Amino acid sequence: MGIPGREWLNALPKVELHMHLEGSLEPEKMFELAQRNNIELPFGSVDELRQAYAFSNLQDFLDIYYQGASVLQVEQDFYDLTWAYLEICRQQNVVHVEPFFDPQTHTDRGISFETVINGITRALKNGETQLGISSGLIMCFLRHLDEEAAFSTLARAEPYLEQIIAVGLDSSEKGHPPEKFSRVFARARKLGLLTVAHAGEEGPAGYVWAAINDLKVSRIDHGVRSSDDPELMTHLVETRLPLTVCPLSNTSLGVFDDMSQHNILEMLDSGVCVTVNSDDPAYFGGYMTENFEALVRGLDLSKNQAKQLVLNSIEASFADDARKTQIQTLLVSVSGS
Ligand code: HPA
Ligand code: ZN
Repeated sequence: MGIPGREWLNALPKVELHMHLEGSLEPEKMFELAQRNNIELPFGSVDELRQAYAFSNLQDFLDIYYQGASVLQVEQDFYDLTWAYLEICRQQNVVHVEPFFDPQTHTDRGISFETVINGITRALKNGETQLGISSGLIMCFLRHLDEEAAFSTLARAEPYLEQIIAVGLDSSEKGHPPEKFSRVFARARKLGLLTVAHAGEEGPAGYVWAAINDLKVSRIDHGVRSSDDPELMTHLVETRLPLTVCPLSNTSLGVFDDMSQHNILEMLDSGVCVTVNSDDPAYFGGYMTENFEALVRGLDLSKNQAKQLVLNSIEASFADDARKTQIQTLLVSVSGS
């Protein structure tokens, strides 16, 4: 019994299904890489950069996020970025991760696809062998770019399909509905990839329907606007189609004014398969433990609810059944209700 404290939440075995590797670039690391690669940043210091992290919407954030990614130049940079994230996962007992990467952010500035994916996958493999963190990598298409660019990104990924479990869709949501990428996602499914998509973050519940019907997704990323549509809520409860919710991201970008207004626990209590994730932890004030802590502070999250959220993440993950059972076993041994 009792309120879940930081120590209990940190020790809770956790699974992360919605985080962008480029969004784990901490300001200190950004400056270090800028110096290492001779890149000029439009900020004079780490403090100045942090002060720019006062976003009022998704686009405000994306502008800085894409600028920050420019310091990533060589394979070792992508390795270091991914490894730093995995080390924090180890500290926070996150035992399985399915991170996103945005190849177009890098290939559009002349970095090869190979450089990006080799750095990331080398770190993920070491994460598995050295830290015991299992993973599946998800390649996202930038939805503000056109269908043709997404098709050519998918073609570049074809030699690396063994390293990728799914494709996703991210970047500016409004005005870029999921169906813009129906044909690309059909091709990805044909290649044996699973599909997920950001929908219903700033965009309407109709975009969640489009991701389900046109992109045949296995999960919706964010999806918090689903609660505007009772029929969609019924569908989500009946099918257990998961939502990867990111509490600190949502309050940082003004999707909810305050954590006390967040709908994650209402959806949990209604039987929706909601999960907790960090999205862009270096930009939104924290990693997995901090997101759970924010729910305790804002919504009186209980230990039982925290455990149910992790059970949902295990159910929603692309891990095989043996790994899912292992993680469930870890969770059962956690004390407290
Ligand atoms: N939404 C859309 N695109 C993104 C996000 C997000 O929360 N984070 C990184 N790219
Ligand atoms: Zn996201």
